[in-house]
Amino acid sequence: MYYTKKRRIKKKSIIVLIVIILMIILAVIGINLYKYYTSDEYKLGQAGYSEKEIADILKFDKKYITYATEHDYEDDFIPLLREKYFLWKNYDKYIKYIDDEYGNTKVDYSRVVSLVNVGANNEPYTHTKKTDMDKGYAILVNKYTSLPEKYAPDDIVEMSNWYAYPDNRIRKDVYDAFKEMSEAAKEEGYTLIVNSSYRSYDEQKEIYDDYESNRGKEYADKYAARPDFSEHQTGLSLDIFSPGANMSNFADTETFKWLSKNSYKFGFILRYPENKEDITGYSYEAWHYRYVGKELAKKVYDSDLTYDEYYAYYLDD
Ligand code: DAL
Ligand code: ZN
Repeated sequence: MYYTKKRRIKKKSIIVLIVIILMIILAVIGINLYKYYTSDEYKLGQAGYSEKEIADILKFDKKYITYATEHDYEDDFIPLLREKYFLWKNYDKYIKYIDDEYGNTKVDYSRVVSLVNVGANNEPYTHTKKTDMDKGYAILVNKYTSLPEKYAPDDIVEMSNWYAYPDNRIRKDVYDAFKEMSEAAKEEGYTLIVNSSYRSYDEQKEIYDDYESNRGKEYADKYAARPDFSEHQTGLSLDIFSPGANMSNFADTETFKWLSKNSYKFGFILRYPENKEDITGYSYEAWHYRYVGKELAKKVYDSDLTYDEYYAYYLDD
């Protein structure tokens, strides 16, 4: 009697234990299923991304992963995010630009990112804003970013004929930097001469209007900035040649080679490089140097970006 009761209790305990174990197993399975169906991997799969694409997306920052899980598959998403100068705030503009410009043709994502970052997805002078003057020597001036109306710097000085053709004026610090650069060039056998420097609103207007009335608007916009949109009006830019050289041959001179390799050491950057016309908005100008200060000039030089791109990625806030 006693033994039978004991055996029954033992049997009951085994059943309870089995039930507990089963419940634990079911709970673990349930938790794992829940985890799987609420995971980013699952959601990305549902959105249509392949296993390889999911592995790629999961390496991105959490905010991008969340975006991808909450939206339908976008084939431009991963290639855009892989671009070095990708800016999240411009994502919708990249997509729109790709849709408008590429259709079914192969997309050049680096180009898309560059153009949209600098605003060149818009027609020049159609979407403009005032530049941030607090940026000092780093201010950006281009076809989308203007100076304050009729801006004129207050530290303009005359340049001596030793350094420039007659009637050239520039901001004091820029003049000092140019003199330093000019002496260094001379020591290596090159002579620099400034052909154009600070231009007032009225002087810039005259140049632009002249081009426009003689050659038409399209031509004028390739070679000259409109007043309030010219770097020359900032008093930070110089057109530099070797004596006797001109716009059509300066790019082929040894002096240009020296300048393009060394100007950053003195605070100047080549502002309108070759093959970047669609980004800068201007024809290649081997002679136009912009003063930004030594530290920034080195960074821009090392980045190999146009100033428009550099500013958009590193300095715009
Ligand atoms: N040539 C340059 C773009 C200017 O006019 O400022
Ligand atoms: Zn110039």
